[in-house]
Amino acid sequence: MRFNIININKVTSTNNYALQLIESGGLHEGDVISVPYQERGRGQGDNSWESEPGSNLLISIILEPNMISASQQFVLTQIISMAIADTVKEYVFAGYEIAEVKIKWPNDIYVDDKKIAGVLFQNFIKGNQIEYSIVGIGINVNQKKFCSDAPNPVSIINYIHKQTDLDELLSKLLNKIGNHYEEFKFKENFSRLKSEYINNLYRFGELTTYSDYNGKFKGKIIDIDDFGRLSIKLENGEVKKYMFKEVEFLDFKV
Ligand code: BTN
Repeated sequence: MRFNIININKVTSTNNYALQLIESGGLHEGDVISVPYQERGRGQGDNSWESEPGSNLLISIILEPNMISASQQFVLTQIISMAIADTVKEYVFAGYEIAEVKIKWPNDIYVDDKKIAGVLFQNFIKGNQIEYSIVGIGINVNQKKFCSDAPNPVSIINYIHKQTDLDELLSKLLNKIGNHYEEFKFKENFSRLKSEYINNLYRFGELTTYSDYNGKFKGKIIDIDDFGRLSIKLENGEVKKYMFKEVEFLDFKV
């Protein structure tokens, strides 16, 4: 897959900028908007995304994944989060500290218990197909300190104690996204993708504390279904399925 990197000095948000261009027919599969700074970077929901100028990776990738039906959107989440986790591993594992890089369901990338990257998907559906997708990715790279109230941010530099070249990181990331994406496009191997994702899932199979609309409880993540719902097995054997935002991971392990 060929990527076409479009470097821009400053935008409010790469996702918003991409959306405007798409609406006027100006962007296509493989285009990547990359900026050193966003005036109003967007996180999931109403959250903002903190990033000091020039320090981190801030991109939006345009995909036209017409091989993925609307009901299979979670495939895209798996492809992208696997590629980010693999890229972060390459850097963090080269450091001196022993760290674990995992995907916190559905698409946060964690190093140990801290968030190093996030993804903001905007999928546009036509009929039963994804017509196009704006994949906004933020990876914390060279920023040492964060001042927003984000609960647990961390950067690659906090592990390897030296600056990372952002262009090189971007090219590694795009390579991995391209490989996972093309492989899926030709083989449509759902079960392989799912098992790779689960192998990398934060807190999979560990007894930990969560909270939902009924309050706190202990349980173990045991599966993800085709719609991306998280299955948690409670101590009494009951299995509950959650959509995004219906369950919160509490900080402490038990
Ligand atoms: C999250 O809350 O975890 C999602 C964060 C996504 C941040 C990236 S930075 C580039 C792109 N443009 C945005 O405004 N947000 C995404």
